[in-house]
Amino acid sequence: MSTERTLVVLSAGLSQPSSTRLLADRLADATVAELAARGITAHVHTVELRDLAHEVVNTTLTGFASGALGETLAKVAAADGLIAVTPVFSASYSGLFKSFVDVVDKDALAGMPVLLGATGGTGRHSLVLEFALRPLFSYLHADVVGTGVFAATDDWSDGGGDDVKPLPDRIRRAGRELAETMAEREPAQPVGLYDAVPSFEDLLGG
Ligand SMILES: Cc1cc2nc3c(=O)[nH]c(=O)nc-3n(C[C@H](O)[C@H](O)[C@H](O)COP(=O)(O)O)c2cc1C
Repeated sequence: MSTERTLVVLSAGLSQPSSTRLLADRLADATVAELAARGITAHVHTVELRDLAHEVVNTTLTGFASGALGETLAKVAAADGLIAVTPVFSASYSGLFKSFVDVVDKDALAGMPVLLGATGGTGRHSLVLEFALRPLFSYLHADVVGTGVFAATDDWSDGGGDDVKPLPDRIRRAGRELAETMAEREPAQPVGLYDAVPSFEDLLGG
């Protein structure tokens, strides 16, 4: 089995600096570390959706993606795993996040291991992961890992509570689940130059 995987990380944060990007980076770091512990090298492509916002709207109007958006959509479709993180706007995923998902080919995420994350001002909206994000990715037939991570403003400084583990613990657990799911599958596409070349042993039926 190949020891390389590609991981695409989507951050829909709008602020600079962005807490959504920070959460996306922490989730990616945790996943990369867990893959490394399994002898797998991860190639990470991080995408700030704010940089593609105009192209996303254009594509929604024209139905044709080109340039940086076209390249990003191709990377998403070819990924072995995806981390998707959005800020909560008006108790749901942001409009930019949903608009991007709307221009992803409807079959591109089928069977793909996906880790979901969200940031918000209040922990009261943490269930956005379960009532908004998870159904969206289930509709696209993605293989969403059990643990999603919501980070409210307080989570960045709090040590957790009676019923909530501290944010670093939740990030580690989610990264482990995504890495486990990615590791047990063959890569979607060859990563290295010679990965697609069959070995002589296979050719000779050894
Ligand atoms: C228009 C708007 C609506 C928002 N609505 C909510 C909300 O319903 N619930 C919530 O918890 N936070 C809400 N927030 C706060 C953002 O989710 C929060 O600040 C987020 O972490 C910002 O992410 P960023 O730093 O990556 O831009 C809202 C912020 C904006 C600008």
